[in-house]
Amino acid sequence: MKRILSLLVLAGTMSLASYAQELTLEQGKFHAGDDMSWAGVNVDESGWKTLSNMTTWTSQGVKIENGFGWYRYHVTIPKSMLEKSDLKETVDFNMAKIDDADEVYLNGKLIGKTGSFPKDPNGYHSNWNAQRVYSVKANGGLVKWDADNVIAVRCYNAGDPGGMFAGPISVRVPNTIDNLSINIKEGEGSQSVCTLVSKMQSSKSGVFSVKVEDPESGKVLSEKTMKVSVNKAKSRSISLPYDSHQMVRIVSTFTESKTGLSTTTKYIPKYILTPAAPAEPRFNTAPLYGVRPGSPIHFRFGVSGDRPMKITSDDLPKGLAINPDNGALSGSLEKPGSYTFTVKAKNAKGEQEQKFTIRCGSKIGLTPPMGWNSWNCWGLSVTQDKVISSAKALIEKGLADYGYCYMNIDDGWEAKERNADGTIAVNQKFPSMKDLGDWLHSEGLKFGIYSSPGDLTCGGYLGSIDHELQDAESYNSWGIDYLKYDWCGYGRKHRTEPDNQTVASYVRPYLLMERCLRQQPRDIFYSLCQYGMADVWKWGESVDANSWRTTGDITDTWESLYSIGFVQQTELYPYAQPGHWNDPDMLIVGKVGWSNNLRDSRLTPDEQYTHISLWSLLASNMLIGCDIAQMDDFTVALLCNHEVNAVNQDILGKQAKREVLDGSIQIWARPLSDGSYAVGIFNVGTTDARVDFKKYFAQMGISSLKAARDLWRQKDLSTSDVNYFIPTHGVKLLKIRY
Ligand code: GAL
Repeated sequence: MKRILSLLVLAGTMSLASYAQELTLEQGKFHAGDDMSWAGVNVDESGWKTLSNMTTWTSQGVKIENGFGWYRYHVTIPKSMLEKSDLKETVDFNMAKIDDADEVYLNGKLIGKTGSFPKDPNGYHSNWNAQRVYSVKANGGLVKWDADNVIAVRCYNAGDPGGMFAGPISVRVPNTIDNLSINIKEGEGSQSVCTLVSKMQSSKSGVFSVKVEDPESGKVLSEKTMKVSVNKAKSRSISLPYDSHQMVRIVSTFTESKTGLSTTTKYIPKYILTPAAPAEPRFNTAPLYGVRPGSPIHFRFGVSGDRPMKITSDDLPKGLAINPDNGALSGSLEKPGSYTFTVKAKNAKGEQEQKFTIRCGSKIGLTPPMGWNSWNCWGLSVTQDKVISSAKALIEKGLADYGYCYMNIDDGWEAKERNADGTIAVNQKFPSMKDLGDWLHSEGLKFGIYSSPGDLTCGGYLGSIDHELQDAESYNSWGIDYLKYDWCGYGRKHRTEPDNQTVASYVRPYLLMERCLRQQPRDIFYSLCQYGMADVWKWGESVDANSWRTTGDITDTWESLYSIGFVQQTELYPYAQPGHWNDPDMLIVGKVGWSNNLRDSRLTPDEQYTHISLWSLLASNMLIGCDIAQMDDFTVALLCNHEVNAVNQDILGKQAKREVLDGSIQIWARPLSDGSYAVGIFNVGTTDARVDFKKYFAQMGISSLKAARDLWRQKDLSTSDVNYFIPTHGVKLLKIRY
């Protein structure tokens, strides 16, 4: 039998949250099925295969959709690890993460369990995302020092993927300092709250400090230090205020008196760059709107400023009306053509006007759609009330003043069966689609829905197959303005089709629905969702798609954002144009969760600035994926920067191209309709960077820089000093002229 022992980290003098004595293991022996004798020490492993714990068993060719599998590891734990620990209290088995539930045995004895199995008293419960760390007494006799120890892991998986997947796993003998950790949170009133937590019963004392630093210069802006003593029952907190309109780094350290060892946690709190909007009216949305002749118009002029405000026009084209109280434009235009008129907004503080053009012709979606979709927050638990609550918040928090107008229901609204006449029925979570549509339209907002060309949607709800026209007619009767049409269940049909290798076979279901939508007397933004198969960007326009998803689903991690945003979009810029957009998926800022359990996006503040900057440069659909009712000031400011949004909504409709790839620095640029350029200088690396933009001028064809503006801060910058500090995973978003 092979012993797998990949790395021995020896005791160091300082520990920065990594363990002083730690052994890591990347692979073990594996057997599918369930046999409790496999928990024991003496097991014949000759028929067992070798499997990594760095990725799921599914991705290593094991197929267990609902069932058990066991991993076994053999590890010699050197006595020197114990001797080097000042505590000599426990040995910790860090089993990383396991999909979905597990029990872990050490030398035949159960040492920990996470989640539960189907036959457990309360039934199956998945806890796939929990970090498992199981402790045993160092001198309790269970750990065999300088000898072979068997770790046996019993895993249960329900639905793909499964097994141990976030390794390497490790065996640790903690020092005092390893049992202490500091969590940093943002408290009320921009206070950084640092909490020192101990896993030990016995009290430990030392010096606890917090500093607010300028990440760029490293300068300490303020600090606080105190002597504390902590144990398992008593944590200690220290807090310090910071300026939430500036990027700062909170650094908190605890140095334990006896050993002199310390632990440090660093954290960058959310910081708001967008300046507050003036009290006077200001128009924030693109001055252009596309509609087909005869189609009803539902549009809301996006104007920020104090309320009450009156929004009016003296030269409105015939057939149109504005509700002066909310700026909702309604009516329709019979004849094709370009209609330009002046809109006025007036409040107690002042008056503003803007020229506005409606292009009545064959194209809609002349700028990328802005709005909300229920999926990234509520997943299948979406309800009509939740849609209404986000729509109300969209208005109350001012997002509607910045052009966010689509309110799109994703999967989870359909009944189990169609009506007797074959029309689609809604489930009990949606009492009335028609009422919902009418109310949204009265506010100048738009209404979106989701379906699949297959028998079932991804969430297992009814799709539109064989009922395409009936469904399009239902959408028309409810006042639907946007359809996301998701491949999903269609895959089963597609697999059986003789021509399924051809592009035509991918086009077919989308063309069919397009024909049905176009028979309706209204404009329905047609959003394809088939993850980029058969290079959809090359034929999306031919099925009159207004946008097409270019990738699989996004999630709120840097890895997902990086792969979708920076890797998978690089070649797609030629395919975006007014009316037809590449869609790299919905936004992952604010409170998301794909279920009833919402949490803050796991992206750091800089990753969120990068996300919105890149999506603006890419002329992407801007669909908010969080609960707007719970949106904090940071997220509102992130989504409501009219200069940043103007890049996304620029009427030239050109998607940014990556102009520079220099190690971890990437520069993406797009031309704008006023002759200027939007430029994003991104640092995708793991450390902060200083970038001299001048270095790339020749490569980008910039002979002499005539103007530079920081769009997030809405401030003009020097054209000679173009040296920028760009934090890890952060961005400098500029508008330049040259
Ligand atoms: C996926 C789609 C998601 C969401 C989900 C609903 O296929 O990519 O955005 O719509 O289905 O089940």
